[in-house]
Amino acid sequence: MTRTPAAPRERARARLDPVHWDFYEGGAGRETALAENERAFARLALLPRVLTGAGAADPAVTLLGTRASMPVLVSPTAFHRLAHPDGERATARAVAAAGTVLITSMASTTAVGEVTAAARSVRQDAAVWFQLYLQPAAEVTAELVRRAERAGCQALVVTADSPVFGRRTRDERNGFHDLPPGLAAENMRDLPGALPGRTLDIAMSPALSWDDLGRLRDLTDLPVVLKGVLHPADARRAVAEGVSALIVSNHGGRQLDAAPATVEALPRVVEAVGGRMPVLLDGGVRDGSDVVLALALGATAVGIGRPVLWGLAADGEAGVAQVLERLRAEVAHVLTLCGAGGCADLTPDQVVARGPRGGGGC
Ligand code: FNR
Repeated sequence: MTRTPAAPRERARARLDPVHWDFYEGGAGRETALAENERAFARLALLPRVLTGAGAADPAVTLLGTRASMPVLVSPTAFHRLAHPDGERATARAVAAAGTVLITSMASTTAVGEVTAAARSVRQDAAVWFQLYLQPAAEVTAELVRRAERAGCQALVVTADSPVFGRRTRDERNGFHDLPPGLAAENMRDLPGALPGRTLDIAMSPALSWDDLGRLRDLTDLPVVLKGVLHPADARRAVAEGVSALIVSNHGGRQLDAAPATVEALPRVVEAVGGRMPVLLDGGVRDGSDVVLALALGATAVGIGRPVLWGLAADGEAGVAQVLERLRAEVAHVLTLCGAGGCADLTPDQVVARGPRGGGGC
């Protein structure tokens, strides 16, 4: 009898130290935002268009001038070497081979230059964006930006939803606060203020403001993407500040537990931006239908966080490749079922709320 291989999530769970599994899987507080991200997608349905003659769909999109094979990029997640010894290098190779964008975390267990080198060993023009927490010490931020530039990252993704560190219930219960010996946040090594050879802790500060974002834009010509925006007024401000793209995100439910599901926040942000820059979304995207729902509601692309960690923990580079290929194929399939030839053919009227009166709009 042939046995279906376990899905990456179950394989990851079986392989990981339970404390590290909880770190990847968990959210803040009562984990309401975490759960709602997925549930909100399940409350939505797609209205397909018929007889469009569109042919088989091509799921490729262009993001900040980069052609991506699909409207799914890899959101930044910390500490990939907890999942697999090859860590971020394995992730970078798989994402480059899949032809999409990797947003590499500032809290990676591999230095950004080694991450981009791994990506470019597969594909010379691989797209790697650097996720940055603005640091209260300006010279630390400046050095991180220089490192990302030297590594050849094509954009900076500033995570703005973390004025303080979220209260991760499971990590508090497990007493998980530090990486095991031998692993470190490598981008934080040898920064101004650190002892030689040592890493600085990543600082979070509620004093950061739009002025600090402005100062970042004086430091670099790289496009700046703002991650963690949920309020339409912030989206309008980001347009005025010359930000290049937004990511509607609640940090995978790891920061403000009372935050809305991201797919529910998306339409108002899209409306506020009014087409002046791409709007991306992450949080709870698990299959091709979720991707297409977000695109129909106006996202240019979505990000996935945990599914990549599951693939990495399950099977290293091959596991990440499998997760990405499954999503690409599903997106193409769902687009075709919706009568769309490509991502740009989707429209918001194709999204309706499930429920007794179904079709009542979103
Ligand atoms: C994250 N996320 C995150 N975001 C960020 O800007 N910098 C980071 O270092 C991290 N680290 C991180 C670690 C882990 C274990 C998780 C699960 C998440 C948030 C991430 O970029 C993204 O917003 C969410 O993961 C998206 O939700 P899903 O796809 O995990 O549901």
